[in-house]
Amino acid sequence: MGTRTQVGIVGGGPAGLLLSHLLARRGIDSVLIEIRSREYCEARQRAGVLEDGSVALLREAGLADRLDRQGLVHGGIYLQFDGQRRHIDFRELTGGRTVTVYAQTEVVKDLIARRLADGGALEFSVTDTAVDDLDTDRPVLRYTDAAGNRHEVACDAIAGCDGFHGICRPAIPPGLLTAWERDYPYAWLGILADVPPSTDELIYAHHQNGFALHSLRSPTISRLYLQVEHNEDIAAWPDERIWAELARRFGLPGWTLQQGPILDKSITPMRSFVSAPMRFGRLFLAGDAAHIVPPTGAKGLNLALADVAVLAPALDGLLHGNDKPAAEYSATCLQRVWRSTHFSWWMTTMLHRRPGADEMEMQLQLSQLRYTVSSRAAATSLAENYTGFPLTKE
Ligand code: FAD
Ligand code: PHB
Repeated sequence: MGTRTQVGIVGGGPAGLLLSHLLARRGIDSVLIEIRSREYCEARQRAGVLEDGSVALLREAGLADRLDRQGLVHGGIYLQFDGQRRHIDFRELTGGRTVTVYAQTEVVKDLIARRLADGGALEFSVTDTAVDDLDTDRPVLRYTDAAGNRHEVACDAIAGCDGFHGICRPAIPPGLLTAWERDYPYAWLGILADVPPSTDELIYAHHQNGFALHSLRSPTISRLYLQVEHNEDIAAWPDERIWAELARRFGLPGWTLQQGPILDKSITPMRSFVSAPMRFGRLFLAGDAAHIVPPTGAKGLNLALADVAVLAPALDGLLHGNDKPAAEYSATCLQRVWRSTHFSWWMTTMLHRRPGADEMEMQLQLSQLRYTVSSRAAATSLAENYTGFPLTKE
């Protein structure tokens, strides 16, 4: 079946879904294809922290009804190390800036519901996706829908929002891309637990057994992470072992970690990756398709949203005879990407125990942590990076 749209969007994560909505508000039609089912996309446990710029973006786009009711505004985090737990007060350090805890699952549910209510073309559970003719004015998107019908969609532009393992980045001739990559020699084991959070703010804990993070999803649901071995087998972590290790790494006299049933358990590798430029002809990459950060800085989802906030007006310009914003798209996004890449690397290497690290490395980490909580300049640097920079430029 041959059809036509203005923008073909590959991938129904936060980047692709928000882009289709932002384009629709500009009167631009799109077809979005996603290899997973709607249910899978809505249940996939991932990020939880939105920068205030991301919240403002969703609010301006008319997508924040539930976010404003259920999102939990946080004015800081705790850094825990060497037997102490110290608060970094974002509001006080940055002139009132905050972050909001609102799960990526909820962002995705809100976006899908809104696109469907507005009559948007979303195709879930597709197979055999391909993009072609990217260096012409009429790139093509091909896929087989859930009923088995093959489609060929002629587009004016294609947005590759298909994550790190997608097909769009590999469709760019390899000689035209530069990639920078760092794998970290550890992973995160994440759990979702049916128990009220034991803390009022997120706790990032440095411990000689490895890093731990106490986050949350709601007043009754906690989200916690443990640093584990690079190729760790999840079967080696029965629930009792997870709770015992979390209690050890967060342990402080007079404080108790509440435990409850574990609802979800998964292991995530840690990687920094940037590929540039984020454009080839009429293909534009956005979100994890172009860059990955380790989750310690809580930046991945925010970068995905920030990319498409730049891409929507750039595509609008391209489709209406103004090439300039599209020509600047990659460079504009990469400034934010590199800042977040550095911040995520810094948080990660300051807080994790590197296998084989000697006592000197441990002392350097502890010194950096003490400096971060005791110097106003250092604490402000963490706070302004964590809460995020204004949208579109640094
Ligand atoms: P994705 O969400 O990966 O979406 C890409 C979509 O494309 C997927 O639905 C995929 O199924 C689909 N797809 C793939 N291939 C194809 C194809 N060939 N055709 C069609 N569709 C395809 N970020 C934060 O900002 N804050 C956090 O606190 C945070 N915590 C995290 C914790 C964990 C454990 C993990 C794993 C990630 C975390 N992140 C966090 C990162 C964040 O989840 C990602 O950066 C974000 O999902 C990127 O969105 P995206 O739309 O670019 O990509
Ligand atoms: C989460 O709540 O999932 C979360 C929070 C902060 C991070 C990473 C993940 O740095």
